Amino acid sequence: MKRIGILTSGGDAPGMNAAVRAVTKTAIHNGLGVVGIRYGFAGLVAGDFVTLTAENVDHMISLGGTFLYSARFPEFAQPEVQKKGVEQLKKHDIDTVIVIGGDGSYHGALALTRLGINSIGLPGTIDNDIPCTDYTIGLDTACNTALEAIDKIRDTASSHHRVFIVNVMGRGCGDIAMRVGLASGADAIVVPERPYDVKEIAETLKRGFAAGKDHGIIVLAEGVMDAEEFRTELLKYGDFDARANILGHMQRGGSPTVLDRVNATKMGNYAVKLLLDGKGGLAVGMENGQLETHDILDLFDDTHRSDETLLDINDEMTK
Ligand code: F6P
Repeated sequence: MKRIGILTSGGDAPGMNAAVRAVTKTAIHNGLGVVGIRYGFAGLVAGDFVTLTAENVDHMISLGGTFLYSARFPEFAQPEVQKKGVEQLKKHDIDTVIVIGGDGSYHGALALTRLGINSIGLPGTIDNDIPCTDYTIGLDTACNTALEAIDKIRDTASSHHRVFIVNVMGRGCGDIAMRVGLASGADAIVVPERPYDVKEIAETLKRGFAAGKDHGIIVLAEGVMDAEEFRTELLKYGDFDARANILGHMQRGGSPTVLDRVNATKMGNYAVKLLLDGKGGLAVGMENGQLETHDILDLFDDTHRSDETLLDINDEMTK
């Protein structure tokens, strides 16, 4: 092994930079060179490479976003495009690659491995929607950002006796909503993983107001519907002073939390060791805080399993 290439792909997530830093420092410690590939797989094919040193990644641990930039590049599914990428890697003496991104990015890592470039995938997305792992890099920061926003919304909600429907991100996955809903003390958490009944939610809110509560909070995963649409549905079952709020991309930004920095660092360090052991075609995951690996191929036949006990606990406390 001579040089490791590293790229970030898909939506940026806080902690991606911490992972790149960990890969760089671990690789250099083990006598390997590291090359940053800018703009994900698009940059790989274009040969947009930058040499990484322990010094130029050092302060990256505290920065959100991805300093290597990211890009969506569906063209990388085409075999002739993949071959161009491999040619670029060979031209620059890069014989292994680490890909940080969502499960879409793992197809690229597998393709490279099959073409002789051992590659490892790290789960980088705020959505926590990747199979075979209960944690993805960026989840914790996104949840804390959303929580802080909802705590502020609560001040306005209670000052005006309002109900707020807060849309959080997650694509088709309700994990951010489940965590943030429970942590913010929401009256209802609405996610794609479970059926819901708007009439029942309206009854819960009415009971709360009748008992003296001065506001209501509904945390709604974006994979269910838009907050404004939900508001229209809710108003069919009660005369609430309700507002819809979409938190949006603010959830993707910001300095990573301790948890995201530590886990991203552990994963980056581990990925280099896997490559040193001659491994490729693997996805790094975490289960109950322990690092583990799975064949990338197995991920494609699997789905992410959410911790739905969070919903059960919230139901028990609100219904
Ligand atoms: O995958 C991360 C994510 O932020 C999702 O939560 C969201 O659905 C999507 O990306 C938004 O994508 P874009 O940045 O392209 O609007």
